[in-house]
Amino acid sequence: MSTEDKDTVQISASMMCIDWLNTKEQLATLEKHNIDYLHWDVVDGRFAPDFTMGSTIINSFRANTKIQSDYHIMAEEPSNLFDSFECTPGDVFTIHQECSRNLHRDLVRVRRCGFRVGVAINPATSLSALDYILEEVDVVLVMTVNPGFKGQELVPQCIRKVEKLKTMIRDMKLETKITVDGNVSYDNIPSMVAAGADILVGGSSGLFTSDRSLEDSILKMHDCINEGLVQR
Ligand code: DX5
Ligand code: ZN
Repeated sequence: MSTEDKDTVQISASMMCIDWLNTKEQLATLEKHNIDYLHWDVVDGRFAPDFTMGSTIINSFRANTKIQSDYHIMAEEPSNLFDSFECTPGDVFTIHQECSRNLHRDLVRVRRCGFRVGVAINPATSLSALDYILEEVDVVLVMTVNPGFKGQELVPQCIRKVEKLKTMIRDMKLETKITVDGNVSYDNIPSMVAAGADILVGGSSGLFTSDRSLEDSILKMHDCINEGLVQR
């Protein structure tokens, strides 16, 4: 492992899992601990069940923080939503491979909006779906649970997928980052990081947990990241 890799594992806070009655305090804690991104799960009730947050809620947080946004759009034909979300340089905008009728065109459009470009794949989607678009994206988000709900169990074969993807990225000499999203728990973080994850989406399993303070959860996540880095 190079020293470059060492400090580059980032945390993206899954905002659908925040304690909604204490958002101001929790946002301040995320800032104090230099959390890298706020992860916005946007679900349309069609591609994935349930509904989460729209632009009104997201923008009210954005107006009150300097933390970058990491949009994760779980919606059919995501191009219909491109104009709904605001961008500051460095924000990531991720759409699902399974949702887009013309993925390449949509990814190019996302970049034109000024975002860093991400593509997400569900647990059952093969890495071959990325064969002709990997060079277009800055981030691949590997869903480690099926999209929609918090609190689900890891789909374990997704760790193998992260490992394979890391090899593909290295072989192609790309700088593409790998995000893992779903059941990013203290038990799972070491193997996710060891497999090559660069960005961890902290949700109800690792960051906004019911039995620890947010501050303690952040520190525990860092310990688990370090455990994974030594296994790389
Ligand atoms: C699943 C969501 C996850 C969320 C859940 O659709 O995309 O972003 O982070 O986190 P966990 O699995 O830890 O409850
Ligand atoms: Zn997500």
